[in-house]
Amino acid sequence: MYNSRIIGLGKYVPENVVTNNDLKQWMDTSDEWIQERTGIKERRWIDPETSDDTTSSMGVKAAKIAIERAGVTKDDIDFVIFATLSPDMYFPGGGVRVQDMLDMPTIGALDIRNQCSGFIYALSVADQFIKTGMYKNILVIGSENHSGGLERSTRGRGVTVIFGDGAGAAVLAREEDSTKGILSSHLHSEGAHAKELALEGPSTGRWVDTIMEENDPDDTSYYPHMNGQFVFKHAVVRFSEAIIEGLSANNLKKEDIDMLIPHQANLRISQFIQKKFNLRDDQVYNNIMRYGNTTAASIPIALTEAWEEGKVNEGDTVVLAAFGSGFTWGSVVMRW
Ligand code: ACO
Repeated sequence: MYNSRIIGLGKYVPENVVTNNDLKQWMDTSDEWIQERTGIKERRWIDPETSDDTTSSMGVKAAKIAIERAGVTKDDIDFVIFATLSPDMYFPGGGVRVQDMLDMPTIGALDIRNQCSGFIYALSVADQFIKTGMYKNILVIGSENHSGGLERSTRGRGVTVIFGDGAGAAVLAREEDSTKGILSSHLHSEGAHAKELALEGPSTGRWVDTIMEENDPDDTSYYPHMNGQFVFKHAVVRFSEAIIEGLSANNLKKEDIDMLIPHQANLRISQFIQKKFNLRDDQVYNNIMRYGNTTAASIPIALTEAWEEGKVNEGDTVVLAAFGSGFTWGSVVMRW
């Protein structure tokens, strides 16, 4: 059995910055409301007038940086894992698009559909493939184009103000030293709450014909909807459980955490967790202020920035934790 270790990280966000005040052109909202409830000051939204970014192409841009920093080439990658809730197409998923855009050999490409927990699930899957010796280098990507599918109106404001676009990527490689790299991953779900945070149509449960036939101006089924307070209450509990589970599986205490990277769902959730685990500011990385919630991309973007800023160093205990739609949640504990 081998361990797996991140050997390269990259991120990409669209150039177009949308501030809280910019959102007022579409909806009744305020900078004060958004900052107070979420901590978000601005996010990146693809501007289709000036950019041809897509979920896959952003993933590719982040991946190129990760591959270069890993000191490998695209031909050294054995497998691609792509996490998103906003694929370019209904099918096929983004993994094969990346394989094509990066001009990779005909290696396998897998898509992960676990929303905000997508990158945690993707890392865990990659780790298992490497542990068994099946693959040596795996490219793991989280990427989202939320802006194209959000309801830009006062009706949609409860969800729309939260989400941003972007991508993050990691190259995971075989590590022979069992004390380094991914030490554990824990994954959970509770599908009973699937509809509390969901986008229901178009899907096989709600085909385009039905939506068009009904032609109901009050139909919001093709926009994401969220029972915000319900999700918030579950998030704080599940984040904590996932972190505790990861720490105890490795006989670690909360004092041992050098860097916690929570999925960037809401700054208030991160702050709650920080307080609960009695962590200093330098032990928790947040960038939701600048990017909003980028779902599957949020952890790899944050991890990349933390690493770029020299906040993640060799020997550090790094904990990643996420919670989101599904509900799904989980954690990954790594020794850098
Ligand atoms: N601007 C101004 N007012 C607003 C806005 C807005 N953007 N959005 C909602 N409001 C209003 C509402 O209409 C409501 O008004 P009312 O009291 O007159 O009816 C009031 O503000 C309160 O609305 P709530 O929805 O109760 O606001 P809440 O305090 O719950 O904050 C939020 C909403 C930020 C979404 C919060 O509930 C949250 O962060 N939830 C968890 C999000 C999360 O963790 N998601 C998981 C990951 S996402 C994924 O997996 C895809």
